[in-house]
Amino acid sequence: MRNVLITGGAGFIGSNFIRYLLNHDAAEKLVNLDALTYAGHLENLVDIQSDSRYLFIQGDIRNRPLLDALFAEHELDTVVNFAAETHVDRSIEDPALFLNVNVGGTQTLLEAALQHWRLKPDDKHCREYRRGCGFLQVSTDEVYGSLPPAAPSFREDSPLKPNSPYSASKASADQFVRAYHQTYGLPCSISRCCNNFGPYQFPEKLIPLMILNALADKPLPLYGDGLQIRDWLYVEDQCSALKAILDNGQFGDIYNIGATNEFSNLEIVRMILHELGKPESLIEHVVDRPGHDRRYALDNSRITNELGWRPAHTFRKALKATIDWYLNNHTWVEQMTNTSYQDYYARMYAADTP
Ligand code: NAD
Ligand code: DAU
Repeated sequence: MRNVLITGGAGFIGSNFIRYLLNHDAAEKLVNLDALTYAGHLENLVDIQSDSRYLFIQGDIRNRPLLDALFAEHELDTVVNFAAETHVDRSIEDPALFLNVNVGGTQTLLEAALQHWRLKPDDKHCREYRRGCGFLQVSTDEVYGSLPPAAPSFREDSPLKPNSPYSASKASADQFVRAYHQTYGLPCSISRCCNNFGPYQFPEKLIPLMILNALADKPLPLYGDGLQIRDWLYVEDQCSALKAILDNGQFGDIYNIGATNEFSNLEIVRMILHELGKPESLIEHVVDRPGHDRRYALDNSRITNELGWRPAHTFRKALKATIDWYLNNHTWVEQMTNTSYQDYYARMYAADTP
């Protein structure tokens, strides 16, 4: 049983992960630290908010005094760091925010963990830590950059070649995690996952955006030729992979979490339209994302061979379940697509038709 700090737990994957851990009886205490940015919503957690094992704290991962108080008061022994700015398009507009939050925030969290878990906090040579402590950095396949069409999938030792400000910030955060492990012996591991989809994903991302636009008979804005390829994993499968890493992963290791479900964006959009009975004439090719990565794909061998993890969901069934979830959760959709989201949408897509 652990006392877990989950950062960014009011976002898409973090909220699914909290639900997953509570349902799998895997924690004594779960402290969710989230700044509630535009992407963080307590509406994602209403069904579990009164669970006695769960506590929400609104705050920023860059706030060191707050972190110190949380580590001390809750005797935290595990950190799962989801908190981040996550949208590539927003990173192109405001790279400095991504640098500050994703790199600065991760380093602040690492430093707090080091100070609270190290047996002799003031001894720079001490590499011993309280028993059972561990830091899991939730990272992304985007740190490896773009994969040519026929090239083999990225392995954990593939070079880091991030292309967007978002992926550069995540790669840099990963390097800080590595450095804290190498230099101080801090017990850390890193997961690198492919594209997730499922309930509670904020509508700015491809799958929910296309579902909601199709339902409203609005154009579906496909960047460039739409032939960019992503590997898609149902969010619950990323949750089970993260739990497998927490339970049996090796500190100092990186774990790719891939789905082996490669589809082009055009294929994804066609599947959504077909499922909703909407015409393909809704597809609108718009100006491409600057520096757009063409393809991601991950080699899963380490996590499958060493930790016995496998995705439990097939893509088409999970996509249908996701579409049904958006159809059945009107109130949530209305809350997420409020005025500020509409302003974002208007600004982001206004000038994009070639
Ligand atoms: P999200 O944007 O839905 O949620 C991010 C959460 O972090 C929000 O609740 C937000 O309020 C919170 N947050 C942001 N800045 C914060 C700060 N300074 N302090 C505290 N909280 C802060 O993101 P997501 O899609 O759930 O992604 C979660 C993590 O998983 C991210 O680290 C992301 O890089 C990684 N990841 C995501 C995917 C994906 O497909 N969505 C794939 C691989 C990895
Ligand atoms: O690969 C993992 C990453 O997946 C995560 O690390 C990121 O946090 C997450 O946002 C996601 O990044 P992507 O850029 O791949 O996701 P997004 O949903 O923004 O876009 C998926 C693909 O769809 C990408 O090729 C861009 C394209 N796209 C996206 C949007 C929002 C469009 O064609 N039109 C759109 O309107």
